[in-house]
Amino acid sequence: MKQQPIGVFDSGYGGLTVLKEITARLPQYDYIYLGDNARAPYGTRSFETVYEYTLQCVKWFFSQGCSLVILACNTASAKALRSIQQNDLAKIDSSKRVLGVIRPTTEMIGRYTKTNQVGVLATNGTVISGSYPIEIKKFYPAVQVFQEACPMWVPLVENNEYNSPGADYFIGKNINHLLQQSDKIDTILLACTHYPLLMEKIKKQLPDNVTVLSQGEIVANSLAKYLQNHLEMDVKCSKQGDISFYTTDSAEDFDSHAAIFYGKSVKSMHLSL
Ligand code: DGL
Repeated sequence: MKQQPIGVFDSGYGGLTVLKEITARLPQYDYIYLGDNARAPYGTRSFETVYEYTLQCVKWFFSQGCSLVILACNTASAKALRSIQQNDLAKIDSSKRVLGVIRPTTEMIGRYTKTNQVGVLATNGTVISGSYPIEIKKFYPAVQVFQEACPMWVPLVENNEYNSPGADYFIGKNINHLLQQSDKIDTILLACTHYPLLMEKIKKQLPDNVTVLSQGEIVANSLAKYLQNHLEMDVKCSKQGDISFYTTDSAEDFDSHAAIFYGKSVKSMHLSL
């Protein structure tokens, strides 16, 4: 039978924090990870550009035999997913599926907050898209959402500065801005797949009663549920436990950074798009 891995996509390394949880929860499946490192970060790019880049990568996954692709990137989920689902899939192949990370997270968030005041930390692109407030309202109309864009956080992580005093400075600045919007926020969502690397520093700057959520585990559980409920998709996904990694930038650079995100070393291949 032809290999049909599940595609996992991010602009760079961040999606590896999601892939790590997905492979821990669903180790039997085959996966292909693609980081579009050559064109990262996506967070500051226009809708059109993020859409164009994401669609190009999704088409590549399909050419590799994937029937199911997860956009493990909030920016791509916010700016490109809807158009791909509603317009492109029908033209390319209506049996393929592309899922994002925003819906699984917004479905869950109301279970964590007692004050009904939730903070969202994300890239500029995700914040401006309004996706989180819009989606959270659908599931939990009583929940108020406060957003803060953290444009320096992805560059800090991508440049290996996530443990530096500079990181403390920018984290402190953005957390203060967020908490100034409401002192009743009791749940903060890290709505960018790069941010789990900053978790300890973020928690240090927050009162103990604030819960900080990252998406990896939530997305992994949601994918497991999706595959259980969509057996027609599950049977298509090959299950030999293989994982391959691709980057649009230097494979050597990718391999030297990836372990921080993925928890294990990886051997990637370069892809020219
Ligand atoms: N990891 C991506 C996300 O979840 C953002 C990184 C970027 O700006 O490219 O939003």
